[in-house]
Order: sequence, then C-alpha cells, then structure tokens
Amino acid sequence: MSKIRVVVHGALGKMGQEVIKAVNKDIETELTGVVDQHLSKDSGEIPNCPITVPSSNQISELLLNTDVIVDFTNSEAAYNLIKIAPKAKTHLVIGSTGITDEIYQEAQKQSEANNTGIVIAPNFAMGAVLMMHLAKISGKWFEYADLIEMHHEGKIDSPSGTAIAIAEAAGKERKTKFQSPESQKELIKNSRGGVSKSGVSIHSGRMPGRVAFHELVFGHLGQTLTIKHDSINRESFMPGVLMAVKSVTKTPGLTVGLEKIMGL
Ligand SMILES: NC(=O)c1ccc[n+]([C@@H]2O[C@H](COP(=O)([O-])OP(=O)(O)OC[C@H]3O[C@@H](n4cnc5c(N)ncnc54)[C@H](O)[C@@H]3O)[C@@H](O)[C@H]2O)c1
Repeated sequence: MSKIRVVVHGALGKMGQEVIKAVNKDIETELTGVVDQHLSKDSGEIPNCPITVPSSNQISELLLNTDVIVDFTNSEAAYNLIKIAPKAKTHLVIGSTGITDEIYQEAQKQSEANNTGIVIAPNFAMGAVLMMHLAKISGKWFEYADLIEMHHEGKIDSPSGTAIAIAEAAGKERKTKFQSPESQKELIKNSRGGVSKSGVSIHSGRMPGRVAFHELVFGHLGQTLTIKHDSINRESFMPGVLMAVKSVTKTPGLTVGLEKIMGL
C-alpha cells in the first residue's frame, strides 16, 4: 500500500512541528514537504524533522506529487490554500481557527468543483470533541451546570472557545436554560463566573503549565455528573489530525468538524 504524501503548511509553528513528528511516525503517512513563511528552498534542516524534504515559503511550489496538505497557520493563509490546492487535486486538512462563513463557502465550492476532499476542524482533540457529544446527550437530564476551564497564562480570550462550544452543546437538546442561582451576597465580584446563553456558569483559570482543561459538572436532585477532559500537550491533537488525513482522500467535498469523521 502506498503511503499518503503529506505537506505541512505552517511547518515552523507549534502545531506544524507536532504534525511533522506525527506524520513521520505513522506508517501510513509520509512527509513530502514543508511550507512556512519563514522557510526558503535551501532552508536545510527543519526542527523535529529527521529527514530532508523540499521546503518553501510558497505552497504553490509544493502542490505537485502531494496527496494532502495539513494547514496550521491562520485563517487568511488557509483561505489562500483553499483557493489553489483543490485545483491541483490536492486534499486539505485545515486546523487554522477563525474560519469565516465566506471561507467555508469557498471550501465547499472548490472541493465540489474539483472533486477533492477538504476537512476543516476547529478542534482536533478527540477527547474534547467527545466531551461536547457527551454534554449534548446529557444536558437535557439535568437542571444545573457548572463549567471550569483552565489554560496557560498567555491565552488571549476567556472563556475558551471550547468552553463556549461545550456550554452550547449542553444546552442543545433543552427547552429551557439551566438554572443559575444568583448569590444574595456576592462577597467577591464575579465569583459565580460568567453565564453562557444556555445558562451554564463558566469559571476560567489561567496559569503557567496548563494547556487546555475543561470540567463540566451537571447537577440534579441528589446527584452530579462530571465530564472532564485534559489536553496535557499538543500531541493530544495528533490522533485527530491523522484520522482526518486518512479520511480526506476518500471523502470528496467539505467535511466540517472531527465529530463527522468520528461518526458522532
Ligand atoms: N484545530 C485545532 O485543534 C487547533 C489546535 C491548536 C491550534 N489551532 C490553530 O492553528 C493555528 C496555528 O496555531 P499555532 O499555535 O501552531 O501557531 P504558531 O503561530 O505557532 O504557528 C503558525 C505558523 O504558520 C506560519 N504562517 C503564518 N502565515 C503563513 C503563510 N501565509 N504561509 C506560510 N506559513 C505561514 C507562521 O510562520 C508560523 O510558523 C491557529 O489558527 C490556532 O488557533 C487549531
């Protein structure tokens, strides 16, 4: 069986570096090129890459003889990729976040017109995707929900996008919001956290050493149910990325979300 030839777009970034390691380790995939705005043709050794592969700062130079491009750059670079790669019959796995409706529409158009596959997933951590699924099927059976999320001290936003998605999933099959009792005396401001649209109280912690931690506690009379996921490092995204790489070559058109590939 021939291996899937993979080019990594955003190869010098934190996620790109993990993808290089994962693709080199997997017996079904083969790293055939790396692209980053800070690379050139004669970049020489690439960090974390034990083999020498063609490198460039232009994806257009590495489109030939490539089965799948894995992108972890930003939404703008991903958009450019979507406009050119399917025309060269190359499949795409996109992890860059901030993908707008316009970009999704272009991805749909290009993948269908060129009969190629595009996977776009805002979260490749299988456990986090499963957590959203479990939150969705559990939410309607409980009346209260608290969500605690913890990330590294450099995270720009709070709560995390994943926390918002979990809270939305928890409320998806409910007719009413969760109850979110207010304290009569709030001795420290905001100690009850922020409240999501579905009524989940969200508490955000920030400190060094954390990657991405989410704990959802549902409550009802005399019982609680806790669902917890902890991303210890960026390797946590790689089983999902490899699953998408293997699926995308067989699935023409646009697939949004790892949950579709997992059949959830
Ligand atoms: N889907 C997921 O599960 C998931 C997980 C983590 C991060 N992300 C997203 O992945 C993206 C990258 O994250 P990161 O932490 O690796 O960021 P990073 O800043 O460490 O890496 C981005 C890399 O992309 C390169 N780059 C930027 N523009 C480029 C262009 N036009 N052409 C070629 N290379 C370009 C940069 O030089 C850099 O090396 C972000 O959008 C982030 O939110 C997604």
